[in-house]
Amino acid sequence: MSNVPTRSHGRKSIEPSLKPRDLMGGDDRLVRAWQAQVITLLPDAFPGMLGESLTGTALKDGLWQLHPVDLRSFGEGRHRNVDDTPAGGGAGMVLRPDVMGRAIDTARASMPDAAPLIYLSPRGARFDQVRARALAAGPGVTLICGRFEGLDQRVIDHYAIEELSIGDYILTGGEIAAQAVLDACVRLLPGVLGNAQSTVEESFSDGLLEHPQFTRPAAWRGASIPAVLTSGDHGAVDRWRREQSERLTRERRPDLWQARSGQD
Ligand SMILES: C[S@@+](CC[C@H](N)C(=O)[O-])C[C@H]1O[C@@H](n2cnc3c(N)ncnc32)[C@H](O)[C@@H]1O
Repeated sequence: MSNVPTRSHGRKSIEPSLKPRDLMGGDDRLVRAWQAQVITLLPDAFPGMLGESLTGTALKDGLWQLHPVDLRSFGEGRHRNVDDTPAGGGAGMVLRPDVMGRAIDTARASMPDAAPLIYLSPRGARFDQVRARALAAGPGVTLICGRFEGLDQRVIDHYAIEELSIGDYILTGGEIAAQAVLDACVRLLPGVLGNAQSTVEESFSDGLLEHPQFTRPAAWRGASIPAVLTSGDHGAVDRWRREQSERLTRERRPDLWQARSGQD
């Protein structure tokens, strides 16, 4: 049915060569499923951690679908070359624009236009909870994993690709970054977490870090749970948690604290 080199994961395979219109037939739940495409030289790295625990269960249940797109199969010549030396000289190799362009065109043919095309890159805007929420609210995402020295700039410019970084350090490739981004998005999809409230209360949900957590036993190595948490006074618990959140945010993340004060 399709010559697209992908192996999709999830309850039912939907080949990336299908047009959005094709996805409109059949199982309603799958039509609504959040779609994740990952263009990568290492398709076997997926689902990886995403196949475990809550994201893995959600994948099996069809709440989202994962389509790794094997960049190698779009390569040039008998050896399926995907990279070449940097123009102007210097160390390493750069992913070729013609190869990446073919992979992008093929992958995007089966994604709704509203699903962003994103290149994981240390030069990108910092990925955060606000971006995760926005991505989770849409139909899905196409992620591009770089390798070597990264992508030819012309591809980034031609497709106006958004660049996202997961932090100020250099990974060997974009695959771990892609899994981090997808994990953060998928856990926000309706029905993925058992207790929906936990995404409301956790760190960053309202611009604050989360308060400290405790559980049984009541005493451990001489340390007790703060008395207010076992008092049964829900108002006092809420106030204590709020104070702790604010204190931690002020102490550890003055940038977040300032951004919050600016909003008030
Ligand atoms: C070795 S890195 C290339 C680094 C690039 N030469 C630079 O200095 O910006 C190879 C690939 O890993 C991915 N990568 C590395 N660090 C990342 C980060 N902090 N966030 C997102 N992706 C990253 C990108 O896809 C990148 O193209």
